Amino acid sequence: MRQDRLALDRRGALAVVLGAGAALAAPSALAQQTRHAMHVRRDAGCGCCLAWAEIMGRSGRFTMTVTIEADMSALKQSLGVPRDLASCHTATVAGFAIEGHVPLSDILRLIGTRPAGVLGLAVPGMPIGSPGMEQPGGGRDAFAVIAFSGDGARQIFARYPARG
Ligand code: CU
Ligand code: CU
Repeated sequence: MRQDRLALDRRGALAVVLGAGAALAAPSALAQQTRHAMHVRRDAGCGCCLAWAEIMGRSGRFTMTVTIEADMSALKQSLGVPRDLASCHTATVAGFAIEGHVPLSDILRLIGTRPAGVLGLAVPGMPIGSPGMEQPGGGRDAFAVIAFSGDGARQIFARYPARG
């Protein structure tokens, strides 16, 4: 059941990519057809950041820039990423901050819906099985995508149950 739900999410994201030329476009779908510039900043020694950036690039929804950042914590602070939600890499896209291994479908939903006050999304830490942190056996730790706002408010944007 849970696996089915994830598969649906993945197919949903894929459908967005394949359906880019669809005639009946809702406003949010229109927003999602734009190819957004995404800038990923990462620490020099971290490989999972590249794995995540590759997934974003392969989606065809972003024009990717990936750079090494000397002071990641200063960058996160300047973007309003709460300290306790920190992960490895930090990306900026469409005016939002994306912290850590956030799934593609959640980023597209954020850009498409632009919820009021939200600065960005974070997957704190580096959950096993999140995008860019895949395991050979497909196992995954449960993790949540958290939407954070400038006033300190946060809400769960998506939940991914444990698997495997
Ligand atoms: Cu990572
Ligand atoms: Cu990394």
